[in-house]
Amino acid sequence: MKTISTFQRLKDNNEKIAMLTAYDYSTAQVLDKAEIDGILVGDSLAMVALGYKDTYNITIDEMLIFIKAVARGAKNSFIIGDMPFMSYNLSVEQGLKNASEMIKAGANAVKLEGCNEHILTLVKRCTESGIPVLGHLGFTPQLMNTIGGHKIQGKTAENIEMILESAKKLENAGCFGIVLELMPAESAKHITENLKIPTIGIGAGAGCSGQIVVTDDILGKFTDFSPKFVKKYANLSNTILNSAETYIREVKEGVFPSPDESFELEKSEKQKLSC
Ligand code: KIV
Repeated sequence: MKTISTFQRLKDNNEKIAMLTAYDYSTAQVLDKAEIDGILVGDSLAMVALGYKDTYNITIDEMLIFIKAVARGAKNSFIIGDMPFMSYNLSVEQGLKNASEMIKAGANAVKLEGCNEHILTLVKRCTESGIPVLGHLGFTPQLMNTIGGHKIQGKTAENIEMILESAKKLENAGCFGIVLELMPAESAKHITENLKIPTIGIGAGAGCSGQIVVTDDILGKFTDFSPKFVKKYANLSNTILNSAETYIREVKEGVFPSPDESFELEKSEKQKLSC
């Protein structure tokens, strides 16, 4: 059973942490079987599983349905629930309440984006209440409108030091790890080397303590867009298309179902029918 101690031990032993996203029972089962270190039920599911154009419209109640499904499928992985837009920004009480709902649904921890006084207080209150928190710095999708688009972060020494300062504050507040998204590899490496807790990179190079990517991206299933940092390990979109086309043809031609996929009536009953 993986825990926050697994993450810290891997970092301390200079071993990499491998994380993926999952939104459903059967994917979670397979990732668990593969012995993934952590599964993020990311708010990316708003786009990948629900077809929204961004992550703003997913609600905490919707997230809980997916967390429950993943928790039923993954018995040994460390499951992190992604707190959606505005589910933790209104007050510490609101954040704490919604984080606790994620834990009750089966998550082992929650992820929050950004770093300001409110987030730091919330991280402290969550960890004191038994809810581990994964931070998220660099490009933070929920702040995309104030950032001004999908912009690479940490491109200057000054900005790298600012992100590092935020990362240290999150570490001191109690985060067990920090996702670093979309920044030059050297920037993420510098930040990682100056923290005690592990960093999990996405589009942040090989110098992080671990990596996370969206599973549907690496399987080539989600094809609306494909970021530069995604490596494709399969082309499920083509596999599904080919299988669906073959199925349609076989149904139309009467090839499927064959006797192999059919149930046979008892001989005695067959005779009664032909009378
Ligand atoms: O929502 C998500 O999937 C994320 C990434 C870090 C993978 O936040």
